[in-house]
Amino acid sequence: MSGSRALLRTLAMETSCDETAVAVLDGDGRVEANELSSQIAAHAPFGGVVPELASREHLKALPVLVRQACNEAAGDVDLVAVTNGPGLVGALLVGVRFAAAYAWARGLPLVTVDHLHGHLGSPFLDLDGGAARPMPERVLALVASGGHSSWYLLHDGEARRLGRTRDDAAGESFDKVAQALGLPYPGGPVVDRLARRGDASGVRLPRPRIEGAPIDFSFSGLKSAAIRFIRDNDLGGVAVSDPPQVVFDLLASFELAVVDQLLTPAEVLVAEHRPEIITASGGVAANTLLRRRMRGLGERLGVEVVLPPVALTTDNAAMIGRAGQLAHARGALADARRLDAHGRRAWQPPGMRKLSVVDEVR
Ligand code: KG4
Ligand code: ZN
Repeated sequence: MSGSRALLRTLAMETSCDETAVAVLDGDGRVEANELSSQIAAHAPFGGVVPELASREHLKALPVLVRQACNEAAGDVDLVAVTNGPGLVGALLVGVRFAAAYAWARGLPLVTVDHLHGHLGSPFLDLDGGAARPMPERVLALVASGGHSSWYLLHDGEARRLGRTRDDAAGESFDKVAQALGLPYPGGPVVDRLARRGDASGVRLPRPRIEGAPIDFSFSGLKSAAIRFIRDNDLGGVAVSDPPQVVFDLLASFELAVVDQLLTPAEVLVAEHRPEIITASGGVAANTLLRRRMRGLGERLGVEVVLPPVALTTDNAAMIGRAGQLAHARGALADARRLDAHGRRAWQPPGMRKLSVVDEVR
């Protein structure tokens, strides 16, 4: 998927939320360095991400990670890529300003990357030293994270949204149910671990669909039912040390319901759009059951399923580097002196074709 310019060795930075991430990719999209500094411990006492704290933590971590990543790279970088939205504006600004100064001081070209474009390209990356896989003509792509739950058709350089959540994102619903049980943030990975010990038919939960919009999802009814179950059975806080079996069963049932909600539209979408492959990305694509069910779905429908390495499902800079080098090859270029961060999706990164939708940042 190369364009008019060569694909360059790229230094990428990602600071949109609570992970500071820096990566270097060679021109073939081979990941030479992939550094990450999580802020989870800094935000934990507050029970969620504190935007001002996030900006300060990025400011501390970013120069250190950039130095480390450049030391690990096999050669000098020729391009700088940075996420400029959507996300927390203060946090984004730290990355954008740092990347702009870095590129300007070294006379390097700079590109800005939409965080969602990053996730959409992550299934094509390898963390075992392989080059990035070229993207086929038609890809059916699920993005499920703390801020997004949508199906897209990637075709002809465009990401067309086919369906989306009408309320909570899938990751957000995992986080909220975990919080109601007194489990630590982010809830998704903990639920994944505890659900493995539960019976997914143990607790009956609703799977509401949106009338007239069969591809769209709803998670809020499901989440509320799980939280009501936790309250009615007095389970808040008991999960932390030695949870009773009913907690494992609830989480297994909840996880299955979320995965069902996400994957129910897949069959109709495959029939309608005839993709060459199906992908999933975003933090929820780390989920054990989702990965298993996606593979099963692919086998049943006769379509290849391509999933990102688990380490590249949650926020990372390798995905930003790949999206950035492809955008640069297609002609994108940002002006280091006039760069801004954008919390909302209405704005379009230069050189990227328009996404067909307007998403809000949570
Ligand atoms: O992509 P990401 O790092 O950040 C956003 O762009 O939102 O996704 C984070 C989300 C969190 O809600 C987290 O609970 C969820 O992904 N998550 C998981 C798992 N790992 C992370 N959800 C379910 N199962 C997992 N294994
Ligand atoms: Zn993300």
